[in-house]
Amino acid sequence: MDRYVVIGNPVSHSLSPAIQRHFAEQSGETLEYATLLAPLEDFAGVARHFFSQGGSGANVTLPFKVEAFRFADHASERARLAGAANFLAMNAGRVDADNTDGAGLVADLTENLRIDISASRILLLGAGGAARGVIAPLLALRPRRLVLANRTVARARELAERFSRLGAIEVAGLEAIPDEDFDLVLNATSTSTHGQMLSLPTRLMRPGSFAYDMAYGASARPFLARARARGMGVSDGLGMLVEQAAESFHLWRGRRPSTERILDELRSRFA
Ligand code: ATR
Repeated sequence: MDRYVVIGNPVSHSLSPAIQRHFAEQSGETLEYATLLAPLEDFAGVARHFFSQGGSGANVTLPFKVEAFRFADHASERARLAGAANFLAMNAGRVDADNTDGAGLVADLTENLRIDISASRILLLGAGGAARGVIAPLLALRPRRLVLANRTVARARELAERFSRLGAIEVAGLEAIPDEDFDLVLNATSTSTHGQMLSLPTRLMRPGSFAYDMAYGASARPFLARARARGMGVSDGLGMLVEQAAESFHLWRGRRPSTERILDELRSRFA
């Protein structure tokens, strides 16, 4: 039986096994999907062992996405742009890396939430791994404006340069975000995951616009509660998680699963 894992540390909380097993059942495919805990200092050893024992593919979660990218023999263009991978597949003796996070976010925004990216002025908060993975797919949809704001402005500048050939990105510090009517505010900082409050001027939380936090469940609640109180539409990143999983399943198995039922199920679990 084909074997897949999600590798992380910690990883026992991961929803990926439930999601991937749901996709497999739905499409009548027989596969195993489990969690695999790697010690912080030995991602490569664990991944190498898994593939040497016949493993077919792995999703990779925090904190190993950059290491997964380096570990692979070959990487897709979107993984190279992100400098990180959340997806590995054994193909004819070679480990291929990809990054499905950005595609997951874009699918959630456009298909599930029906947001028109090309008509949107987007404020992307954060310049770490999470932000880096989603810039290229957002730019591919030609947003009206993309402002990348980060506490450390130099990191935002570095990212804007890295992606400059794909489209225009404006850069700002968190304290100096342009006074624009943003349609979509994306929180890609690690504040929600770390239980910290992101201090964002209320002028940026415009009633009728949309706030999206890439974290999900309880972690995303404080950021989204503030946005909701300001009259914004809100979503956590549960849809992104499910959609990146669907993209992974598609790459491994050649079939695109339907995400509606599992997303509804998880939403009620986290409500
Ligand atoms: P991830 O892979 O989750 O993006 P990361 O690469 O460590 O994690 O990046 C964390 C991001 O959250 C960074 O943009 C970081 O800002 P800095 O580059 O200035 O460090 C941002 N971040 C973390 N804590 C923050 C806080 N308390 N306020 C604002 N931004 C924060």
